[in-house]
Amino acid sequence: MRAILPALVSVLVVTTGCGAAAGDGPERASVVFADNCGKCHGVDGHGKKEIAAPGIAGLPDWYVEAQLVKFRDGIRGAHGSDIEGLRMRPMSRTVSRSEFPALAQYVASLPPAPEESERMGKADAGKSYYAACAACHGPEGKGNKAMNAPPIGMLQSWYVETQLKKFRGGVRGAHPDDKTGQQMAPMAKTIPSDEAVTDLSAYVSSL
Ligand code: HEC
Ligand code: HEC
Repeated sequence: MRAILPALVSVLVVTTGCGAAAGDGPERASVVFADNCGKCHGVDGHGKKEIAAPGIAGLPDWYVEAQLVKFRDGIRGAHGSDIEGLRMRPMSRTVSRSEFPALAQYVASLPPAPEESERMGKADAGKSYYAACAACHGPEGKGNKAMNAPPIGMLQSWYVETQLKKFRGGVRGAHPDDKTGQQMAPMAKTIPSDEAVTDLSAYVSSL
């Protein structure tokens, strides 16, 4: 009995310990993420290009949370032509608003996806257009929270290209309540051509 009791106690401790861990904090966020987000973004958060779900691992929590709120409130991803946004939007509603901060912190804690092996466009040619972007996103694309500008150097080139096209076409950043999107949209419109967009996207993702 003396030998069994401590063993029994430790089993109980481990079991209740697990229960508590699944109830709150990062452990719970990892389960919520795997269940609700992993299908498209990958359990590692590295994204799935074939379904246009970007890598989000390592994006700062303030940005992830802000975007989840936008999707939820129909400020992003509600435009009739926003095929990918319309896919993401209902997903932001599978999780309760009160879970967003922990979920965003969990996403931020994941190691970013490795560099892409292939990119469309010519990064060298795209470099010349980047001067206008550095003011907010920084010379190395690391972002600037004070300006609500997210890091973009870690994004995949195909996703950067899609977003720049959306900002240019009024599909993202045009909603009257999208204050930060409205800062970005005019910038995307200064890029001279579609080819320049593709080259710039290659450059951005190489930063
Ligand atoms: C059905 C597939 C799908 C699921 C499930 C899904 N997403 Fe998404 N998500 C997308 C797609 C597609 C986009 C790209 C939208 C676009 O192009 O504007 C996206 C975009 C995002 C973005 C914006 C990234 C950026 O750089 O601005 C965030 C943040 C995000 N998803 C987080 C989540 C979280 C957290 C969950 C789980 C609650 C989730 N997603 C579930 C498909 C999905
Ligand atoms: C005036 C500041 C400012 C400038 C200049 C600027 N941006 Fe942005 N950018 C932002 C802000 C703010 C956001 C966040 C928009 C949101 O919250 O939806 C953003 C978002 C983005 C995104 C979407 C990131 C994501 O994860 O979905 C991309 C891509 C981007 N910018 C690229 C660029 C490029 C390329 C340039 C240069 C042509 C540029 N930006 C210039 C402020 C700026």
